[in-house]
Amino acid sequence: MSDEKTPDFLFRDPAAPTFWDERFEKAFMPWDRAGVPAALRDFVERSAPMVTLIPGCGLGHEVALFASAGWDVTAIDFSAAAVRAARANLGSLAEHVMEADFFSFEPPHRPQLIYERAFLCALAPALRTAIVERWAALLPPGGLLAGYFFFGETMRGPPFGIGAAQLETLLQPHFARIEDAEVQDSIPVFIGKERWQVWRRR
Ligand SMILES: C[S@@+](CC[C@H](N)C(=O)[O-])C[C@H]1O[C@@H](n2cnc3c(N)ncnc32)[C@H](O)[C@@H]1O
Repeated sequence: MSDEKTPDFLFRDPAAPTFWDERFEKAFMPWDRAGVPAALRDFVERSAPMVTLIPGCGLGHEVALFASAGWDVTAIDFSAAAVRAARANLGSLAEHVMEADFFSFEPPHRPQLIYERAFLCALAPALRTAIVERWAALLPPGGLLAGYFFFGETMRGPPFGIGAAQLETLLQPHFARIEDAEVQDSIPVFIGKERWQVWRRR
């Protein structure tokens, strides 16, 4: 994520774990919410437990929510520094976090839910089709993709904003949208530009 306070970094390619390692090691995480967002909390309260996968989990705050509600949750990140930080953050729930690359990871249990936050927008637009295809391959028919999507034009990223129509074009071959709501508790980098959405695998 970039802003005027961005320190100097050696690594510039967000498709490489070194990019993220460097940022976690320097504790430069402007995307980090330091907690669980409200719409997700509400979704968990009103849903039956699902086998859940969190790709690109970062500090993995949401793991605690899913696990305390009795959901089978696995969080993955390909940055070793992120995994270390998430495990330290989660304490006794550290075992839910695995170091793995989303594009090749084979989950221990087939997910019924994939939770999205700041993962799609963390990677360059050229990778979007591959991300969507992997989401679709991981979920069975009826499975859910739920979370936060970052919209808008961005000159450079991450975060890379996406157009609403573009997201629909990408997702609709595999998913039907069943929820779409404004987000009231965004952190500054996402304020006014993110929406809570749930998509059902066709
Ligand atoms: C912007 S951060 C978001 C972290 C977290 N989802 C959150 O909301 O705070 C993006 C994360 O995705 C991870 N990531 C990027 N590409 C990945 C990949 N191919 N496999 C697994 N993790 C990946 C990065 O290491 C980083 O932790």
